[in-house]
Amino acid sequence: MPLIPLEDNFDDVINKAQRGLGVSDEELIRRAEVSAEDLAKVKNGEVISAVIRRVARHLGLNPRALDALAKHEWYPQIPVFPRGFAAFNTPFDDMTVNSYLVWDSKSREALAIDTGSSVEGMLDVIKSDRLRLKYIFITHNHSDHIAALPELAAAHPQAEVWSHELEPVPHDSAQYFKEGVHFHVGALSIKTLLTSGHSPGQTTFFIKGLSWPLAVIGDSLFSSSVGGSPTHFREQLKHDRSKIFTLPRDTVLAPGHGPLTSLAQEKQHNPVFCYGG
Ligand SMILES: [Fe+2]
Repeated sequence: MPLIPLEDNFDDVINKAQRGLGVSDEELIRRAEVSAEDLAKVKNGEVISAVIRRVARHLGLNPRALDALAKHEWYPQIPVFPRGFAAFNTPFDDMTVNSYLVWDSKSREALAIDTGSSVEGMLDVIKSDRLRLKYIFITHNHSDHIAALPELAAAHPQAEVWSHELEPVPHDSAQYFKEGVHFHVGALSIKTLLTSGHSPGQTTFFIKGLSWPLAVIGDSLFSSSVGGSPTHFREQLKHDRSKIFTLPRDTVLAPGHGPLTSLAQEKQHNPVFCYGG
């Protein structure tokens, strides 16, 4: 499979932070002591390191990491699970969206998280690995993440569909969880963490029992960036910091868009979340 590009460019990260924190161009020009012309260039994607680093400092972003993102100097090393994990990347409008299938290889019980725009690949793996789909979990009910839910639910009517109680109804048969609920799939345990901001009930599923701890995080954050929310940006940052960045260091992060990554890598390279140097 070809590498999935990073979800956001450095200028997207600047724009998200500016919108989310309510910092106008005028204010940023004044605070960061850059010219209007240079800021406009950078926001258009032109790589001017000195300006990028100044702007970063005044938006709470890591200057080194934002500059490295601008220069395409970094891409995550993709974590590998020897068994029990498959990722799917499907097209939706002009972007792509991820969905995941996780299973216990002994009992062959499986859970799906989100569906993307097509579940063809997921259905193939369920069939070829002779899995029994027990749960379909939804990170958040934006249309790109649940577009193929009717198809998946129809193909596996025994699978229970679950979503957070603060999200809109994703499916007729859906049931609702709160934060801090545990589910079990064979020897795997799944805990729900409310990581709202991008949407009101957006949930991270923290899964133990595979080779690495796994957090399926929806649009809470992306490798090198953060989930978008002009209105609840601070809430998203707070939840990411307190609930995702406190997970074990070797946790694999499986976002709704962009490549798979790990907590250790994002702590080093994500301009929104890394500190120092
Ligand atoms: Fe999304």
